[in-house]
Amino acid sequence: MPVRRYFSCLWLLLCYSQYSKSDSLEQYVLPSGAPPAGNWMFSLPVVLGVDKTSGCICRANALTTVVVCFGGYDCRRFPKVKTRSEILRVRTSIIDMIEIGQLDYLYYLKTLELEANHRLKYIEPGSFRNLTHLEELSISYSTGLHNIYPRTFEGLLNLKNLTMVNNGFSGILHVVPALRPLMLPSLESLDLSENIFEMLPRDAFRPMQGTRLKRLRLNLCQIEYIHPNAFLPLRNLKALSIGENELNTTLIEDFLIKMIEQGINLTFFDLSGMGFRRHLPKKLLEVVAQSTITKLLLSRNQFEIILDNSFPYMKNIELLDLSKVSAVSIGAKAFDTDKFPNLKVLYLNGNILPGIHNVNVAAQLKLLDLSCNTLNSVTPTYYEIDRDSFINSSDMKILNLSFNRIKSVSKYTFIGLDNLLILNLENGTIFHIGPGTFKSTPHLEVLNLANNPLTESENFTISKFEGLYELKYLTLRNCGIKFLDSQDNIFENMPKLEHLILRNNQLYYITAEVLQPLTKLRILDVRENFLIAWPTPLFNNGVHPQVLLFSNNKISHFSMSMLEDFNHIFRVHKNSTDIDLRGNIYVCDCNAMYSTYTWIEANASYELKQYFKNSEFLCTSPDLWEDKRVFDYLLSIKSLPCIMYDKISKLMIFIQTTPAIIMIMLLALIAYFVIKFRVYIRYWLFLGKLALGRKFIRSSLKAHTKIDFREYKYDAFVSYCNEDRDFVLEMIAEMESNPPFLKLCVYERDFEIGSFISESILNSINESRYIILVISNGFAKSQWCRWETQLAEYHRLFLEDGTSYDPLVLVRIGHIEPKYLSTTLKFLLKTKIYLSWEEQRQDEFWKKLRNVLTKR
Ligand SMILES: *[C@@H]1O[C@H](CO)[C@@H](O)[C@H](O)[C@H]1NC(C)=O
Ligand SMILES: *[C@@H]1O[C@H](CO)[C@@H](O)[C@H](O)[C@H]1NC(C)=O
Ligand SMILES: *[C@@H]1O[C@H](CO)[C@@H](O)[C@H](O)[C@H]1NC(C)=O
Ligand SMILES: *[C@@H]1O[C@H](CO)[C@@H](O)[C@H](O)[C@H]1NC(C)=O
Ligand SMILES: *[C@@H]1O[C@H](CO)[C@@H](O)[C@H](O)[C@H]1NC(C)=O
Ligand SMILES: *[C@@H]1O[C@H](CO)[C@@H](O)[C@H](O)[C@H]1NC(C)=O
Ligand SMILES: *[C@@H]1O[C@H](CO)[C@@H](O)[C@H](O)[C@H]1NC(C)=O
Ligand SMILES: *[C@@H]1O[C@H](CO)[C@@H](O)[C@H](O)[C@H]1NC(C)=O
Ligand SMILES: *[C@@H]1O[C@H](CO)[C@@H](O)[C@H](O)[C@H]1NC(C)=O
Ligand SMILES: *[C@@H]1O[C@H](CO)[C@@H](O)[C@H](O)[C@H]1NC(C)=O
Repeated sequence: MPVRRYFSCLWLLLCYSQYSKSDSLEQYVLPSGAPPAGNWMFSLPVVLGVDKTSGCICRANALTTVVVCFGGYDCRRFPKVKTRSEILRVRTSIIDMIEIGQLDYLYYLKTLELEANHRLKYIEPGSFRNLTHLEELSISYSTGLHNIYPRTFEGLLNLKNLTMVNNGFSGILHVVPALRPLMLPSLESLDLSENIFEMLPRDAFRPMQGTRLKRLRLNLCQIEYIHPNAFLPLRNLKALSIGENELNTTLIEDFLIKMIEQGINLTFFDLSGMGFRRHLPKKLLEVVAQSTITKLLLSRNQFEIILDNSFPYMKNIELLDLSKVSAVSIGAKAFDTDKFPNLKVLYLNGNILPGIHNVNVAAQLKLLDLSCNTLNSVTPTYYEIDRDSFINSSDMKILNLSFNRIKSVSKYTFIGLDNLLILNLENGTIFHIGPGTFKSTPHLEVLNLANNPLTESENFTISKFEGLYELKYLTLRNCGIKFLDSQDNIFENMPKLEHLILRNNQLYYITAEVLQPLTKLRILDVRENFLIAWPTPLFNNGVHPQVLLFSNNKISHFSMSMLEDFNHIFRVHKNSTDIDLRGNIYVCDCNAMYSTYTWIEANASYELKQYFKNSEFLCTSPDLWEDKRVFDYLLSIKSLPCIMYDKISKLMIFIQTTPAIIMIMLLALIAYFVIKFRVYIRYWLFLGKLALGRKFIRSSLKAHTKIDFREYKYDAFVSYCNEDRDFVLEMIAEMESNPPFLKLCVYERDFEIGSFISESILNSINESRYIILVISNGFAKSQWCRWETQLAEYHRLFLEDGTSYDPLVLVRIGHIEPKYLSTTLKFLLKTKIYLSWEEQRQDEFWKKLRNVLTKR
């Protein structure tokens, strides 16, 4: 079954050919958005460097089956390529000639293409002598090449296809003598399009007498005249293209009649773009009808109205191409079975047909292309399809209704298409799919609904997609899908789906439940959505696509579920897995990537590790890592910062998850510190109080501006440590018993019993004009005294208001070991004048002290 073959093609995309419509169904163009062929097929990643002898740059594909050499103005001679390949292309060079011997080493080539070498003028006869394996040769787009000499192709014994398009040949006889079967015994295809031949005289192909040539293309050669006998030497010719030449129909009829008479059994005849106008060339068609031609191309002519009787009875015609013929209306019976009993493929795309109204869609058709029937007018009309239009089309395999302004489809639209395999509805304006629409197409394998506003006014429901049990390929690209309902799962009844395209929608998430029924899925394309890292695995329960296309979404990191999914898929498909994660918004910091890193280290399979290693997805933030590979960031994680980060974040998690324990621990800690440093705590409390007290006093003092008249209870507060008690007692005796009598406040004697000790100190300090610090080794050592010092200093600072009054009086006794000195003490001893106690000069000392304390 020929149609089956599409499917091998469907995945390979390799069946595109220059002659896309030339060969029946098999070569019918694939649905757009066909699976991506691996990049390696087209890219040329292997750099072979500059060839020294010629200056050309050469590159190869990954498998080195293709080598391409180019090089603009540096590529002067034919290159000497060291890499063996099947295909060699030399293009855009300034090679001006090819000489004998230059190609000898390429004896292994199957295909040689010399294209767009604008300066090429001369190919020395015999240049190809050693290329006996060559099957395809192209010498094209070399406008300087005017002649091919009779012995130029000597040696090309296996050449099947020869392409010489758009060169500088000015007459057919400058070429044909080189194509003798003696030189090219295997030649089957010849393309001489886009050369200016103007006429094909009687003996145009005479030198080719006896050739096996099957296909000849002479499109766009400005041919105005063809001698009726011109093609007769080409006895095996099957396919003839003379499109895009403005030829008088009589001339065509004449040579066709001659060919029929001579038993040349053409099957393919290309008359596209011949400038036929208004009416179909009835007489010519009658001649065609008598021939063995099965495929007739009449596209790009101009036949506005095709009537029921425009075509004669054409029993052999299987393929008819009437695309882009400006057709506005077509008679209801124009392609009836009576007239075209064997018609299988009909192209009516690119016309201005308003829809399918009152038309007998020919029952014998297997393929009908009605795409692009939209007027580009200001007031476009909708493309209407009558109910039951396809009621007799049970043979139809492929129906192309894309690029039409179809509003909606319903369960009546496709009735009769029992065997339809491919349905293309892309770029319509379909906003409504009636329930049960596809029930009439139970064998549908490919459904293209791309670029329709399907979910604009209604949600997807399972009822819209009923009956698609055989579906293998579904594209819902750019259909405005916001979510896929797992309760009302449209994929529920598509168990055979292999290729799902959801590209360019507005999906934020996909769930495993939605994908659950798709156990045969091989390609999942969700590029250009809003997907984020998924929190639960998507692929399990037998769903494991081989190709995952997630590029251009909003994935910022790799969740464990993603990594598990990828690992799973790599385990199933090994190195034939293809996961595209480019164009997402990866955040390369520890928070996002550390767990990814540890997971990969611990759990990733060899394939997944390799995948990350060769990956090309890039970080988008932070700035430092912007546009650098995520993998490089992962590599850098080995260094310290993230490990620190990990420890901290673990602690943070611990804190967050165990608040009670932490609170208890914290309280215990606080209690511990309170006990240990209670002295300091008290000290700070006093400072606070003192500050408040002094502030109040000071402001009230200022109000009266009579600092000097302030009455103090004591003349001085004496701060000392117990070791210096004797000295202090002596000081008291000296000061209090000799005139002028001073009153000192001393801890032991004057503190009110019962009042909290520190509070008393605070009060005493407040009520003393001076504070005497008796500084000795013992004082410096004692903690209690130490903070008393600080307190005193603080007190002093508080009263500093520009006057020379300084309440602190320092008395030093003996040497003080520096290690005991607190910062405050050190500071005081450095900056203040202090009185030193000297046993020998006691009188002098007391006098000095008295002077200080009586100063106002
Ligand atoms: C249908 O028509 C469109 C537009 O002419 C074309 O791109 C596509 O390849 C055709 N074939 C299928 C099977 O969709
Ligand atoms: C010509 O081709 C043969 C193989 O067919 C090969 O052995 C020989 O080396 C080639 N000649 C040159 C000059 O490369
Ligand atoms: C030659 O050209 C024909 C038609 O274009 C193509 O089908 C065929 O594969 C080509 N042959 C080779 C050997 O490439
Ligand atoms: C074609 O050309 C011939 C003369 O070369 C002329 O007699 C004939 O009318 C032309 N036919 C058409 C359809 O133009
Ligand atoms: C063309 O077909 C006829 C009838 O089938 C046959 O006799 C003839 O040999 C064929 N011509 C060629 C060149 O094959
Ligand atoms: C379908 O076929 C039947 C009989 O073959 C015919 O009467 C009918 O008109 C056809 N309908 C359409 C829409 O072609
Ligand atoms: C198909 O539809 C898409 C989205 O509506 C649009 O961007 C694109 O241009 C359309 N293609 C054609 C050929 O009109
Ligand atoms: C689509 O489904 C969502 C969620 O169930 C609902 O909020 C919304 O109204 C539905 N929209 C339409 C047009 O039915
Ligand atoms: C895939 O792996 C197989 C062996 O498991 C190996 O032979 C093959 O070359 C690999 N293919 C690629 C493209 O790496
Ligand atoms: C490895 O996988 C196991 C099971 O899925 C998981 O529990 C563990 O956390 C993973 N290891 C790392 C380092 O993420």
